[in-house]
Amino acid sequence: MCGIVGYIGTQEAYPILIKGLHRLEYRGYDSAGIALINGKGTLSVYKEKGKVSALEASVAESDTSGTIGIAHTRWATHGEPNATNAHPHYSQSKNLALVHNGIIENYKSLRTMLEKNGITFCSDTDTEVLVQLVEYMQHSHNCDLFTAVQLALKNVIGAYAIAIIEKTHPDRLVCARKGSPLIIGVGKSDNGRAEFYLGSDATPIVEYTKQVIYLNDEEIASMDRSGKLEITNLSNVKQTPQLVTLQLDLDQLEKGGFPHFMLKEIWEQPNALRTCIRGRLNVVEKDVLLSGIIDHKEKFLNCKRIIICACGTSWHSALIGKYFIEEACQLPVEVEYASEFRYRNPVIHPDDVVIAVSQSGETADTLAAIQLAKEHGAFLYGICNVIGSSIARATDSGTYLHVGPEIGVASTKAFTGQVITLCLLGLAIAKEKKTLSDEMFHMLVDELQQIPDKMQWTLENNKHIDQFAQMFTYCKNFIYLGRGYNYPVALEGALKLKEISYIHAEGYPAAEMKHGPIALVDEEMPVVVIAPKRGMYDKVVSNIQEIKSRKGKIISVVTKGDSVVRGMSDYSFVIPDTRDCYVPLLAVIPLQLLSYYVAVAKGRNVDQPRNLAKSVTVE
Ligand code: F6R
Repeated sequence: MCGIVGYIGTQEAYPILIKGLHRLEYRGYDSAGIALINGKGTLSVYKEKGKVSALEASVAESDTSGTIGIAHTRWATHGEPNATNAHPHYSQSKNLALVHNGIIENYKSLRTMLEKNGITFCSDTDTEVLVQLVEYMQHSHNCDLFTAVQLALKNVIGAYAIAIIEKTHPDRLVCARKGSPLIIGVGKSDNGRAEFYLGSDATPIVEYTKQVIYLNDEEIASMDRSGKLEITNLSNVKQTPQLVTLQLDLDQLEKGGFPHFMLKEIWEQPNALRTCIRGRLNVVEKDVLLSGIIDHKEKFLNCKRIIICACGTSWHSALIGKYFIEEACQLPVEVEYASEFRYRNPVIHPDDVVIAVSQSGETADTLAAIQLAKEHGAFLYGICNVIGSSIARATDSGTYLHVGPEIGVASTKAFTGQVITLCLLGLAIAKEKKTLSDEMFHMLVDELQQIPDKMQWTLENNKHIDQFAQMFTYCKNFIYLGRGYNYPVALEGALKLKEISYIHAEGYPAAEMKHGPIALVDEEMPVVVIAPKRGMYDKVVSNIQEIKSRKGKIISVVTKGDSVVRGMSDYSFVIPDTRDCYVPLLAVIPLQLLSYYVAVAKGRNVDQPRNLAKSVTVE
């Protein structure tokens, strides 16, 4: 949530910062702003309500020269999303400008203290408190910016990633983080000196350099135009930066001819999943190799239960993971909303394995949940997509999804990547625990290998969804039903529709309908039923009958060749046959396409739906 970009070097900063903001816009798009110091030593701040393009238009006639600058795209937490509350914020003397991602919890008491000391505020934000506090520290301790930031942050409670520049010292960019991500890119300018880039993630940096440093919590960095980089902690103890090479290519950040990132990411799923299972699933040897498990085998063999913490779509994939692991490994698995888990004194044993599932690896609640589990001595395992993310680094071991960057705000390929990774994890544990017969294990390995091809088939055979999505744009509500492994798919289908088309939708276990929700069904109500010819097929057929007799419109996801449910349905999407446990990987695809095309037909901004941000770094 909120994206930060920064640059100091010999190039013009403005184009780098604007391009970076566009890349980070998925993190928030309530407002955008930029601060630059030009060659004459003028510090200018430009900001605008709305998207980065609005900022660009508004500065078209302004002086945007300068080789140092910071920029921000905002997802509002404190204060309404207008230009006043947009970042960067000036200090009172206008000598400093600062951008911030996170929440300052004690901002009220800090603001009161600063106001008592004669400081006047221009905005309602917690961020302005930070920049005023830094300047106050500079004046009261007669110290330089770096020391003032250290002193200020010692008084701050909350989460932050900040970048700050100073008019009177235009050769230095200072940044710091706690709880919100910040990456420093180390490049080389024409004269061979280091130049520095800053980003909330690697996307604004990768075009210029692949050499990065992931700042750790409570670290402060000073980047000098001469190429000097200094990192300390809040107590001024020098830290040794670790240079890491990014595994990210620029074309992964482009739409590649698709109208939206979401559609591109839906279509990427077969290949993304091939990459995800490559080297991990060995069909010849009938083996599953997850180094994160192999290295910590004892933890998984000795644990009495697994707890999975996640939010949103990741919570849905975790639920599928639970069903799979319990079935394959005979090991109890609890799935927790991270935001609930972290605040309710849960029972956590030192022999529990706690798994965090998170695409971004930055979700504040999931991070806090595993920190709590760590305090109780549990073994922490991370399933993340973003390499080097906070959750990936806070866990004892883990597995990356390797599905490539997901930029559309609605999660698609990360969901299927998470499901397949949890299946791999279940298979790896089952193999060690010998809870599956060899025959069953081999069959599950072989079938998992087929999934990317079956996904491709599903995509190719459901292209027509765009043609009838138009018919559903008038709908105010949708119901999604599934049983067993497909209940979480129903939840996921409903979430996808809600978040990008703004149509209200609910997912239910199909048999729960008669305990209340069926009262909602009438001829206006589309009911999406996931009804593969597997497991509880007959029971789902009965559930469909119940809805039909109340005149609900049935949209079904059916197995290729099934004419019974097709015949009962108003519309059907066909998927290939697979094992029960893998059906979610196929059944979710038509539901992703349905929500995408309904949202497009309604004229929604699919990649950047209102009020949402991709990486939820505040609780
Ligand atoms: C929905 C969606 C969100 C995320 C949730 C958790 O499409 O993207 O519900 O799944 O915010 O995010 P991560 O997985 O990054 O922890």
